[in-house]
Amino acid sequence: MDVARVLHANGGAKEITYAKNSSAQKQVLSLTKPFVEEALHDYFGGTHIPDKMVIADLGCSSGPNALIPASEIIDTVHGQCQKLGRRSPEFMVFLNDLPGNDFNDIFTSLQPDFFSKRREDEQCRVAGVPGSFYGRLFLSRSLHFVHSSSSLHWLSQIPSGLDAKNGPMQNKGNIYITKTSTKTVMNTYKQQFKTDFNLFLKSRAEEMVSGGRMLLTFMGRMFDDPTTKEGFNHHMEMIAQSLMNMVSEGIIPEEKVDCFNLPCYVACTEEVKDIVENEGSFVMNRLESMQVDVVDCEGDNVLLSRGERVARMVRAMLESILGYHFGMELMDDLFTRYVDVVNSYLQTANYKFTVFVLSLTRQ
Ligand SMILES: C[S@@+](CC[C@H](N)C(=O)[O-])C[C@H]1O[C@@H](n2cnc3c(N)ncnc32)[C@H](O)[C@@H]1O
Repeated sequence: MDVARVLHANGGAKEITYAKNSSAQKQVLSLTKPFVEEALHDYFGGTHIPDKMVIADLGCSSGPNALIPASEIIDTVHGQCQKLGRRSPEFMVFLNDLPGNDFNDIFTSLQPDFFSKRREDEQCRVAGVPGSFYGRLFLSRSLHFVHSSSSLHWLSQIPSGLDAKNGPMQNKGNIYITKTSTKTVMNTYKQQFKTDFNLFLKSRAEEMVSGGRMLLTFMGRMFDDPTTKEGFNHHMEMIAQSLMNMVSEGIIPEEKVDCFNLPCYVACTEEVKDIVENEGSFVMNRLESMQVDVVDCEGDNVLLSRGERVARMVRAMLESILGYHFGMELMDDLFTRYVDVVNSYLQTANYKFTVFVLSLTRQ
């Protein structure tokens, strides 16, 4: 599967869109706002404010979250400039995502509102940059601030060796790492994350100015052992369980589940730290973890059952990939089953995810 071509959050034409089902990611943005402000204050601590400031948000998606980071960054810099009694810089904001992203939504419905809220003395331009953040996207030494939220747990590809076309099925009945996954499966996932994250850092290192800041939030895991049940892997098991229900009724052939592995990886802090240190271009200012309860996020769909809310959120992000592999026509059935699995799980447990906040400075 060519992940960069297939993956996209559900956009305008879909019934269940990311725009209407992203309050959990919005909560992540609001929890990490103080870290963004901290990074900007450190960066501009003295009078070190450029006349032109270039900001990139990577994996911006569509819907109301897409312009939140840029607004917050501009507001913070503007406040800092006012304190220092100087003019705000001119801002260039680059919004990046994969080519299948609903960029139209951003530029037709959101951007006018974004501009109407900007002050008269703020000069600001916004541009969309389709492409994978696992590789170069921008001119060398051009970016002052890079932001990315809820995106870097996506891999560039299904880990090599675990893609359907690449040989024997190695992770039977699973779609991600679980207790029954082999060591080879675990290592293959870990290696793919290492390769991707290293390439991400190398690419940004070339694009950022010296002293530039990068604030990344992405899903992670609390435990070193990737098979310990927690937010993300447990949640993938519930999707696998729903798929296996469909296998038992003859709706999906078993091999179809056996040969599918999700192109995501939730790392532990040690793994992230090692990659940043070995790559060597960035100073690590912070690496922290937070717990986010995705069910109790205010906002979208408050009248729905908790299971339905979770299912819509997951569907808005995973439908492109799951539908491509299993068939779009099966997605209603799959997610109806998934609602039941999640509702029954939520009777006795909560639904928390681990999110990492990583704050870096380009050396
Ligand atoms: C859960 S959404 C997060 C959107 C937004 N940042 C937010 O906080 O609501 C993850 C986004 O990352 C994008 N993404 C995944 N892999 C990517 C890649 N290699 N390059 C660029 N964007 C990617 C997806 O297309 C998706 O829109």
